[in-house]
Amino acid sequence: MNTAQIAAAASAAAARAGDNSSLAFDVDRVRQDFPILSQEVHGKPLVYLDNGASAQKPRQVIDAMSNAYETYYANVHRGVHFLSQRSTEEYEAARKKIATFLNARSENEIVFTGSATEAINLVAHAYGRTFLKEGDEIILSHMEHHANIVPWQLLRDDIGVVLRIVPVDEDGNLMFEEYEKLLNPKTKLVAMTHISNALGTIVPIGDIIRLAHDQGAKVLVDGCQAVPHMDVDMQALGADFYVFAPHKVYGPTGIGVLYGREELLNTMPPWQGGGDMIVNVSFEKSTFQKAPLRFEAGTPAIVEAIGLGAAIDYVSTLGMENIAAHEEGLLHYATEKLSAVDGLRIIGQAREKAAIVSFVMECAHPHDIGTIVDRAGVAIRTGHHCAEPIMDRYGVSATARASFGLYSTREEVDVLADAIGFVREMFG
Ligand code: ALA
Repeated sequence: MNTAQIAAAASAAAARAGDNSSLAFDVDRVRQDFPILSQEVHGKPLVYLDNGASAQKPRQVIDAMSNAYETYYANVHRGVHFLSQRSTEEYEAARKKIATFLNARSENEIVFTGSATEAINLVAHAYGRTFLKEGDEIILSHMEHHANIVPWQLLRDDIGVVLRIVPVDEDGNLMFEEYEKLLNPKTKLVAMTHISNALGTIVPIGDIIRLAHDQGAKVLVDGCQAVPHMDVDMQALGADFYVFAPHKVYGPTGIGVLYGREELLNTMPPWQGGGDMIVNVSFEKSTFQKAPLRFEAGTPAIVEAIGLGAAIDYVSTLGMENIAAHEEGLLHYATEKLSAVDGLRIIGQAREKAAIVSFVMECAHPHDIGTIVDRAGVAIRTGHHCAEPIMDRYGVSATARASFGLYSTREEVDVLADAIGFVREMFG
């Protein structure tokens, strides 16, 4: 079954059961793992629908991190003493878990960075400044996050590469035929999102990669909104670089992940120098580790990596297919409910969509919507979502955005819809 079929089966089962249960996914039980969700905000039960910005953390992640600090914390790769050995084992075990989760060929393909943004900047520096030259072309889409635009603009300003932009249509679908037209022998890199954080569009990234490779170009995928919501398989996709943000996958902040093909990573020079990334240092010359350590200068985010390992265990145990099916059911339900509100326009109705609903209302500015629904305990994001070009594309400066996670429920969609109804009453 593909994701849509699984979702349909799950929704049908949930409808039959008349609650949030799906085939193998008990959302009420799952919610008990997230201590933060049981609180009230402004005297109302918290409805957290800002998962696109950052997701909440299950007890399993919090405990793994506390346990590391309380029982075995020390610096990694640097000590013969017991605690350092233990910390190193746990840190490297997390890297292995991520490699397995992404179906990478080896854990050497997993680089820990300070953030997903830093991971893209790493590639722009270490790959871009080494292998690209003036006149080479980089293809982006119109719906990129600023983190997948600005590093390439800095590179353009530095070495004179040319940025080409694939448009999206009125519904938010990537215009694939325009992408095909943009590809040419000067295309050296395609840097594209897997799922748009502002619209929810799922990009046919496998086809994007295939055509780019046919042209001899490399591909970097921004997977920040995809990894928390669907199964992603590096060997099946064949991406050269794939980036994700652990804090959106129910893990900690302060860490990012760069997947890179091992042989490619080893052709790239370091981009930051310091301890742990070297083999030998003298005043005349330094020699460097192979990937991934050559890109991990300095003390890394040790406990954050361990927390991420616990988050990966958590979502793997639930099953990415079950999470995807649960969220797809929510997307359909939320789309139906919000579409019924007079004067509300959903921005982004792509054929393939993740559980993100961006919208504007005739009667109220997104910031007013966000402020009013907050009084009902509902947390949504308002603004340009760090994706100003796509806001411009639809002639808006901002949207209100509800983004769902594995613990979101239909009852929460109802609370959101009621709160939006109240916005209409106030401003309409
Ligand atoms: N990129 C994050 C978002 O979409 C912060 O909200």
